[in-house]
Amino acid sequence: MLMKAEKKSEPASAENDMPVLTLNGVTKTFPGVTALSEVSLELFPGKVTALVGENGAGKSTVVKILTGIYQPNGGQIEIDGSPIRFPTAQDAGDAGVTAIHQETVLFDELSVAENVFLGHAPRGRFGLIDTSVMMDRAREILEGIGANIEPRTKLKDLGIANKHLVAIARALSIDARVVIMDEPTAALSQKEIEELYELVEELKTQGKAILFISHKFDEIFRIADSYTVFRDGALVGNGAIADVTEAELVKMMVGREVSQIFPNREHNTGDEILVVEGYEHPTEFADISFTLRRGEILGFYGLVGAGRSEFMQSLFGITRPSAGEVTIDGEREIIRSPADAVGKGIVYVPEDRGRQGAIAALPIFQNVTLPSLGRTSKNGFLKLAEEFKLAREYTERLDLRAASLDTDVGNLSGGNQQKVVIAKWLATQPKVIILDEPTKGIDIGSKAAVHEFMAELAAEGLAVIMVSSEIPEVLGMSDRVIVMREGRIAAELSGDDMAPETLVRHAAGI
Ligand SMILES: Nc1ncnc2c1ncn2[C@@H]1O[C@H](COP(=O)(O)OP(=O)(O)OP(=O)(O)O)[C@@H](O)[C@H]1O
Ligand SMILES: [Mg+2]
Repeated sequence: MLMKAEKKSEPASAENDMPVLTLNGVTKTFPGVTALSEVSLELFPGKVTALVGENGAGKSTVVKILTGIYQPNGGQIEIDGSPIRFPTAQDAGDAGVTAIHQETVLFDELSVAENVFLGHAPRGRFGLIDTSVMMDRAREILEGIGANIEPRTKLKDLGIANKHLVAIARALSIDARVVIMDEPTAALSQKEIEELYELVEELKTQGKAILFISHKFDEIFRIADSYTVFRDGALVGNGAIADVTEAELVKMMVGREVSQIFPNREHNTGDEILVVEGYEHPTEFADISFTLRRGEILGFYGLVGAGRSEFMQSLFGITRPSAGEVTIDGEREIIRSPADAVGKGIVYVPEDRGRQGAIAALPIFQNVTLPSLGRTSKNGFLKLAEEFKLAREYTERLDLRAASLDTDVGNLSGGNQQKVVIAKWLATQPKVIILDEPTKGIDIGSKAAVHEFMAELAAEGLAVIMVSSEIPEVLGMSDRVIVMREGRIAAELSGDDMAPETLVRHAAGI
């Protein structure tokens, strides 16, 4: 199972036998961390290779090495069998390697088209950028991926899913032979995900080699031809997708069996802690009423675009509802801002944790304790030992992998950064926590730890609202489920009514 990607059941055409791109014994170290240890990888034309591994296994580090962002400490990159180096990102692009990164590197103040063509804009006479050609080509590429985005729009005016589509368009604007996608579907809606799969098929027929990084097993089995597994920066297995089961892949990744069993929860909930009545927004949602009890986990299911996140943001004071009332712990409240919400005991962990979440240049422990300084300071003096203790407790319970709590959050892997954001809000000990897609981007082994922690906190009396698009998670964790469709509550389900078909039926309105 090691080293060489097997290609069974494939009629071996001459083209398929030769990898476009090879990583040969590549090592990458950072101070105190070996991110990659002599890993090898081969990418073939017209094939999708899935790269899987836990949070921090080294997947994004490979992407950065292949795109000239990091230089390896050892080993080599080969294109068509010849060694090559990528001292800069430009060199990787020139060699035909392009990537959609996990944390998209785009510029808010530039237009969509400028972002797509930054560094390789079409030029006219005198070497000046030909804006109209650039706009036309950007429009063409965006239409080609089913994105309805005007190329002149400033990037900052787009939502997260559209920004991601711009990043995809950027990758496609370079006529690449190798396309790398680092968790490309994490920020997309179901419809956009389907379009992305179609795009991947199209790229395959064009003979491009694709490296696809994902924590979602359904999509790996749907679109990948072969797999490569990393654990702790080392290669642990590779082969054809047709020859492996999900359980085997998980075992290679995590090093043990992972049962997808959800924590056994006692459904004894306490007093009403939150009552929402008639919440309404001019365009996003209407007529939202429900109650939440201490110790309860209330799932919010719906298709992307059903208005769940918009409602949660309003409940958290990011936007103002046009009507509606909130009662927290028996007191009628008006939530004027997020700070106001936190003060009243409601916190919200957004889906887009990259931007709204952590401070990259500060160490983990400070990020975690920042909003709960009241818990760790005495007479205004921070108690360092207390801060560490609090940070350690919450990060350990969320299965955070880091060299130490002094590590800057910016140096953590994407999934581990997300765990820091969740830890930081849980550490404030709120009365109500709203978790928006809590396990998105988190590997399958750590997911169980996050679920376990949620269950423990609920048992201690925390009231949890969990927005999730994953049916097993919604059904496995929730005491009750509210299904939203087109900005309204379509159903409130409990007990035996909590079944996959029922959820889907209400979400789709059939
Ligand atoms: N610039 C850096 N400085 C220090 N350590 C780093 C840096 N970049 C990555 N690392 C470390 O290298 C290891 C691999 O990180 P990487 O981002 O490649 O993980 P990943 O497999 O992409 O994980 P995820 O699934 O969470 O995205 C981690 O331990 C990470 O903390
Ligand atoms: Mg990553």
